[in-house]
Amino acid sequence: MALHSGTAKAKDYLKAAQSAVVLTGAGISAESGVPVFRGKEGLWNNYRPEELATPEAFMRDPELVWSWYNMRREKLESIEPNDAHGALATLEESLDDFTLITQNVDGLHRKAGSRNILELHGNIWKVRCTGCGKIERNCDIPIDIPPYCDKCGKILRPHIVWFGEMLDPEIFGNADAAVRKCDILIVIGTSGVVQPAASMARTAKDAGAYVVEINPQVTPISDAADLSLRGKATEIVSIISLFDTEV
Ligand code: OAD
Ligand code: ZN
Repeated sequence: MALHSGTAKAKDYLKAAQSAVVLTGAGISAESGVPVFRGKEGLWNNYRPEELATPEAFMRDPELVWSWYNMRREKLESIEPNDAHGALATLEESLDDFTLITQNVDGLHRKAGSRNILELHGNIWKVRCTGCGKIERNCDIPIDIPPYCDKCGKILRPHIVWFGEMLDPEIFGNADAAVRKCDILIVIGTSGVVQPAASMARTAKDAGAYVVEINPQVTPISDAADLSLRGKATEIVSIISLFDTEV
């Protein structure tokens, strides 16, 4: 389907929807300058996740893991949300029932003005105590290495869901419920290989929703999508957002 008729169709579905969910991945932040994870330019092509993004890696060498997160925090500090983040924040204002589910930890959706956000994989600007479990916002750059809890004195870790870890059951439960009851699910900029986010398109489709994918590449999600819009997030999200008059 031509991109133009595809975006028109997506916009019509969005207009008619009582309940809309958007699921985002690293691709939506790529045009802001945040590196994605997979592919030639991806973080996991240059760093080994088993050395930096597992609970075992953190137990083995918390200084190394924290220095990697410090490096990512430093880069993110000067990065701004792009037009796709902005269009989703505007979309939220115009719909009564809108949920934004993100796998991103960069905090850019909130910075762009989105409010009803479920951060499936945590947030790079939060820390969690390995002793008492206290979660706190911490935007120090650089953060002291290693940081310690002011309540119980144990070491703090990034509040991120690492490989081999479970998602927060409440956040996942809310995301799953939103996906099951929505009329339209728009999936933007994810490679669709990390569970459980990867299954959300299929879940929505099976529950009767209309599924739209926005991604320059074909992904495993493309199979479940009613419509795949092949292009960059900033180009397409602004077109399908309800206030645009181009279509
Ligand atoms: P990936 O790096 O796996 O995939 C990024 C996707 O974005 C790819 O499908 C690209 O084709 C697409 N893409 C690139 N540029 C784009 C653009 N301008 N507009 C739209 N799409 C674009 O990232 P995720 O799917 O988010 O986990 O990865 C999932 C999880 O794996 C991440 O949350 C991360 C990682 O390990 C944690 O940090 C815990
Ligand atoms: Zn503590």
